[in-house]
Amino acid sequence: MEDIRNYINTLRHDFSKQSLTESDAHSNPIDQFSQWFHEAVDAKVNEPNAMTLCTVSAECKPSARILLLRNFNEKGFVFYTNYKSRKGEEIEMNQNAALLFFWPELERQVRIEGIIEKQSKEESDLYFNSRPRTSKLGAWTSPQSKVIRDRKMLDEAYGKFDKEYPGENVPRPEHWGGYVLKPQRIEFWQGRPSRLHDRLLFTNENDNWKIERLAP
Ligand SMILES: Cc1cc2nc3c(=O)[nH]c(=O)nc-3n(C[C@H](O)[C@H](O)[C@H](O)COP(=O)(O)O)c2cc1C
Repeated sequence: MEDIRNYINTLRHDFSKQSLTESDAHSNPIDQFSQWFHEAVDAKVNEPNAMTLCTVSAECKPSARILLLRNFNEKGFVFYTNYKSRKGEEIEMNQNAALLFFWPELERQVRIEGIIEKQSKEESDLYFNSRPRTSKLGAWTSPQSKVIRDRKMLDEAYGKFDKEYPGENVPRPEHWGGYVLKPQRIEFWQGRPSRLHDRLLFTNENDNWKIERLAP
């Protein structure tokens, strides 16, 4: 145990792969995100669309978990989940949230903060219908975030929905769908030598994006 603590202290990585200057950056952060996302895919980053979502409860207590980004555009960043899950309940009470991407292979981090809204039922249907049947049944089966008796309970529930919805045409449960995080701040972080990293912050002011450099 002591060995692993000593080992942690030896972990030091000097970032040196790239830089991010004001003249390199796009004037619109969605274009900048798009460029970095493409580069993460090209660099074969493991699960490049995996991101941390941080929500805050009505009692101002934060909680974080990994989700998969499913779309992004000028309107925001889209993910899918169970509306009755812990995160769903927190979003219901407090729409402020943050997303975080870490692409270690590129020594990059992107921090996104804004307000979350539910996607329209039509958009959620469209995405739900594109999922494999097993995932559709999984959405019916799991009372996400609730305490359950045992694993068997999930297998039995899956079997029940498997019989109830034979074939590909599984309807979307009302409690499952998309959310869009509408960004107000997006920060692009590029690791640099000597811990003097590049940090460019975009802030939305009356539908215009202001760009500023932050100290590392
Ligand atoms: C790589 C990865 C991807 C995940 N993607 C999703 C996702 O897209 N939607 C989702 O609801 N949960 C996803 N999860 C599970 C969540 O991290 C979390 O366990 C679940 O959403 C329940 O969170 P909550 O109790 O805070 O609501 C993913 C987990 C991992 C590790």
